[in-house]
Parts: sequence; C-alpha cells; structure tokens
Amino acid sequence: MHYRLALIGFGGVARALVEILRNKGNELPQKDGLELSVVAVSDLRLGMAEDPDGLDLAALVDLPNEPGALAAFSGGRAEPDNEAVIKRSTADIVVEATFTNPETGEPALSHCRWALESGKHLVTSNKGPVALAAAELTKKAEAKGLAFSYEGTVMSGTPVIRTAEQCLAGCHIAGFRGILNGTANFVLGQVETGMSFDDAIALAQSRGYAEADPTADIGGSDVLMKVLILARALFDQAVEASAVPCQGITGLSEAEVRAAKAEGHRWKLLGQGSVAPDGHVALEVAPIMLPDSDPLASIEGPTNALTLDTDLLGPVTVSGPGAGRIETGFALLADILAIHAQSQPPRYRQ
Ligand code: HSE
Repeated sequence: MHYRLALIGFGGVARALVEILRNKGNELPQKDGLELSVVAVSDLRLGMAEDPDGLDLAALVDLPNEPGALAAFSGGRAEPDNEAVIKRSTADIVVEATFTNPETGEPALSHCRWALESGKHLVTSNKGPVALAAAELTKKAEAKGLAFSYEGTVMSGTPVIRTAEQCLAGCHIAGFRGILNGTANFVLGQVETGMSFDDAIALAQSRGYAEADPTADIGGSDVLMKVLILARALFDQAVEASAVPCQGITGLSEAEVRAAKAEGHRWKLLGQGSVAPDGHVALEVAPIMLPDSDPLASIEGPTNALTLDTDLLGPVTVSGPGAGRIETGFALLADILAIHAQSQPPRYRQ
C-alpha cells in the first residue's frame, strides 16, 4: 500500500521523520507492506516544494536550514503555501509539525482542520491544536472515517496514548501521574548536583530538550498541555486550560532542591489527573517533593514516565524519552504505521 505524505512545517521533528524514512524506507515495504513518499513540504521559513511522484528524501534531509531553501527543488518556491498544499496536494496523510501555540493553537489548528475537511488523514506532534481542540478534530475525523493521531504530543515516541487506547482497552483508567517535561526534570537534577537554575536551563537548551521559549518548560504550561491531551485520550473529556491549577518549578529555590535531595527526597514536576465515578475530572500541574522510594523519584534527566491507575492491572508505568527530534519523528512514523495497520486484516493490526 502506498501513502503520500504532505509535511506542514519542516523543523527538526519533520526532518527527523524524513531521515527515518530515508534510512529505513527499504525495510518498511517488506516488513509492513507499505510504501511512503513525501509529495509536498511547506514551511514558513523554507518555502515549499511539491512532486506527486515523491520528493527526493536525501535532498530533503540535507536541505540547508536557510530561508527559501525549498526553492532549490524543481518547481519549488521560496514562499510557503500551507493552505494550498494541504487542500490541493495529492497527499493521503498530512503531517502537521509547525510550532506550538498554547493560546490559540494557530496556525496549526487551521492546518489540522483543512487536512480533515479535505479528506486527508492527520498526524501531528503539535500540542497546541490537540490540547485546545481534540474533541472537534476527533469529530471531524470520525465523520469522514479519517485518522487523527497525536502520539508524539505526550512523551514523544514513548507510546503512552496508544498503550492506553489499545493495549489497555478493557481496563478502566481512573487516574494518571507523571513526569511529562524532560527539560524541567533535567534542570531539577542538575540543580541537585550544584548547578544554578540558569546554567541548567541553558544546558537543556543546548541539548535540544527545551522549547524555543523554555518558559513553557519550567513554568508548567508545557505539562499543562500534556495533561489536557491525556484527559482527552484517557477520560474522553475536554477540559479548559483555565480550569487546571498550574505551577512550574520557578517557585523552587536552588537551596530547597538541594536540601530535599540531602534528606532523601526529590522535587519533581508532576502532571496528574483523575476521573471520579460521576465523570468529574480533576487535573493539576505542580512540583511535588517525592520520597526516594517513589518510583517516579528515580526518573532522571530528560526521561519521562507516566503511571496509569487501572482497575484490572493496578498501576502501569511507561517510561522512556520524552523529547528529542528522532524520538518525536518516530512518533509520527508510529501514527502513520497505525493508519496502515487499520487498513489491514485484523492479524496485522497494532
Ligand atoms: N520541551 C519539551 C520537554 C519537549 O522538555 O519535555 C517535549 O514536549
């Protein structure tokens, strides 16, 4: 089966997806019975390129990160046209990976709407539109029998959403609790060992964990978007951001973090949620001091972990990378492979 992809936004994550396709493309048809090509790319800075027969993946991976660089492709242009690419390209799947806007979700939210309205499957690693409008987008996708998948929005490629929706189908999930921001966890760990908050944040930025504006990481709003997404995926509930108490790690002092460590405790930024039997959902983002004996206390550096509170298995914890280009690029690939699996006979389904 052949799927044509349109990439909207060509930053680190979308490039990583193309890199994975270039490196593993030959394995995919044999292993999973599918073929993937990239028929369009449109990016605010880089411009756009289209080819219904498939753009050259190696050339895309090596594309210089310079304004208008996509004009170098045959038929390419220095100016983007996201709307035309989404609505009129021959793509079967739109991959939305533009920047996250936590207030309005735009322009990504419009990209998502256009993709589904024009009959294309949608996969995204963009937290903004999912946190703000997952219910609307799910409805649009279901009405047309299309996929709307967003595994990479929480814990990058570490499978939490699909684990909950598919592997734990049949369990009731009454709550979750997790370390959902790699930057904040890394920063707290560095501060424990003597580094200043500012130096630790700069180090997280240099390693590519932090958002372009790290305020979202340490101020809690990145985790806030993730708990909203989890409330939707796990509890089927749309919660307004304004209804969620949200505190980051900015109120902690370096002395407090080090003193806790010396006394056998660790400060962790946690995202938590629960659903009551009457359907009431409570969500919270806050720094919590955990005893060393708590399984989440041992989660180090940029690693994330999420514990799901299930009725049939008790607590189930998934831990793994929570950020990174290849890790999030893999999440997009996993979403694409899931679309393929859905179109296959049951024994191939994920
Ligand atoms: N900046 C985020 C983090 C990236 O540090 O976890 C993944 O959402």
